[in-house]
Amino acid sequence: MVSYHVLALLLAFAPPFVGPQACQSCHPEQFRSHRESHHALALRPAASVPELAALFNARPVQERSGVAYSYRAAPEGLSVSIVKGEAQQDFTLQWAFGAGAQAITPVGRHAGRYVEHRISWYRAAGHGARTLGHPAEASASLPMAFGMRQDAATITRCFSCHATNVRPGPDLSGILAGVSCERCHGAAAEHVAKPTRANIVTARSVAFCAECHRGPSSDSPLSDPASVRFQPVGLLASRCYQASGKLTCVTCHDPHRNAERDASYYTARCLGCHAQTRKPVIDCRRGEKQDCTGCHMKRERPFPFLQFTDHRIR
Ligand code: HEC
Ligand code: HEC
Ligand code: HEC
Ligand code: HEC
Ligand code: HEC
Ligand code: HEC
Ligand code: HEC
Repeated sequence: MVSYHVLALLLAFAPPFVGPQACQSCHPEQFRSHRESHHALALRPAASVPELAALFNARPVQERSGVAYSYRAAPEGLSVSIVKGEAQQDFTLQWAFGAGAQAITPVGRHAGRYVEHRISWYRAAGHGARTLGHPAEASASLPMAFGMRQDAATITRCFSCHATNVRPGPDLSGILAGVSCERCHGAAAEHVAKPTRANIVTARSVAFCAECHRGPSSDSPLSDPASVRFQPVGLLASRCYQASGKLTCVTCHDPHRNAERDASYYTARCLGCHAQTRKPVIDCRRGEKQDCTGCHMKRERPFPFLQFTDHRIR
């Protein structure tokens, strides 16, 4: 008989998270599509993204205060030289947040603290510019020009939404960069050893996606135009969601792939419900064969360089 202590020890050493490679042989389709998805690339070690320096140097940022930034690839990540007049200081950025679908914000460390870099790369601009939420005023020192110091709780939240197996601290010793399989399906060592449907979780609810994509709260009420960034806020306010009782994020999105860009794909989803109703879109001013999202789910630009789709279907 195995004693309790031995069992506890075995459990402590059994790696509960196995990484996406372990799923490849049995779920090749999900593995392949997920590997290229923005979920998988939502966080990367900066050293694994060799093109970062070129992206950030495309049009070097020179602030009105005279502070200038230049970048080069370094073994530990992305190195940034910050110069103001005679003064110069180099810092290292270890992490790249954001897949680059819209933006990349690097994160590094200085004086024992995590620092969110003052400059992000924006795809819509094609160059670096001030990170959303950072002060417009001139930085008082070179370390302040490096970026905003984030406290442990805040930076732990950043890592938890962009990566897998992040523990408070942040303790990144077991981190799997990116929103990997097990961030959504739970630690899967047991499932890999003896696969059944019973030992793996599959959360399909809007509330689950809203853990990261964020739902209605006092910080992001529906009345705030910036809440368009948080798709669950709009969706939950839609008649479609409220009256159907069965609309979720996975009605329109395969979580293993990026959002479909073809409008006719979504029109088919709309008609999945609206073709069945007794009142087939009578009051709708659409033309013959016109796609639905251009009128009912408009694109918005709540911030410079960032674009989102209004998920409040109306
Ligand atoms: C040795 C083969 C094998 C490996 C490895 C494996 N699975 Fe599975 N998985 C299965 C089988 C078999 C099922 C059950 C399918 C069924 O009953 O229809 C399953 C079911 C699932 C389901 C539930 C599907 C549903 O319809 O509810 C998910 C989610 C899943 N696996 C995720 C994973 C993830 C994530 C990994 C890697 C960490 C993984 N699997 C590794 C064989 C495997
Ligand atoms: C652990 C946090 C997390 C969870 C849970 C999560 N997402 Fe995401 N999702 C992200 C992040 C981070 C990005 C942005 C990646 C990037 O572009 O940098 C993203 C991006 C997306 C995108 C845009 C992909 C593209 O085309 O660029 C879609 C669609 C999406 N998620 C759908 C979902 C759905 C549906 C669920 C629930 C089944 C879900 N997400 C759950 C974190 C999460
Ligand atoms: C509650 C979960 C959550 C937290 C906390 C979080 N993110 Fe994200 N992040 C997301 C999701 C979801 C997306 C994709 C949707 C979007 O663009 O807002 C995203 C997108 C991004 C992007 C791509 C640009 C964009 O807006 O699409 C960057 C860069 C980013 N996050 C950096 C960070 C950094 C740095 C922190 C911490 C200071 C952080 N995130 C904290 C969930 C989160
Ligand atoms: C962002 C969250 C998320 C990530 C990341 C994710 N899944 Fe899933 N997965 C889901 C959801 C939600 C479903 C249920 C989809 C549905 O019901 O339409 C699902 C369904 C599945 C299924 C059942 C078949 C199917 O496609 O519906 C398998 C197998 C699976 N996932 C494996 C994986 C593997 C392997 C990975 C990593 C390579 C992975 N998943 C990554 C959320 C995720
Ligand atoms: C899961 C089923 C479902 C899906 C998918 C769906 N809807 Fe709906 N939608 C409904 C229901 C149910 C209502 C309420 C009908 C009523 O009140 O008669 C509704 C209401 C609406 C309304 C009226 C809104 C209002 O505030 O009065 C519009 C517009 C609409 N849907 C457009 C769309 C479009 C466009 C799509 C695709 C992008 C879509 N729907 C997808 C079920 C759905
Ligand atoms: C009725 C269909 C529908 C539903 C349901 C839906 N989406 Fe979307 N989603 C879209 C469309 C359309 C786009 C824009 C695609 C494009 O860029 O062409 C989109 C884009 C996105 C993007 C990329 C950023 C943006 O805003 O353009 C994210 C992230 C996303 N959806 C997350 C979610 C989440 C999370 C849920 C659940 C709360 C959800 N979506 C439910 C239709 C839907
Ligand atoms: C050219 C823009 C446009 C397009 C494209 C469009 N709609 Fe509409 N739709 C409208 C307008 C405007 C209204 C409001 C009509 C009114 O209140 O008189 C509306 C109303 C609706 C309603 C509410 C009808 C009611 O009886 O209350 C539904 C449902 C709807 N649309 C579904 C759809 C679907 C599904 C598609 C795609 C197949 C679509 N619409 C495409 C402009 C459009």
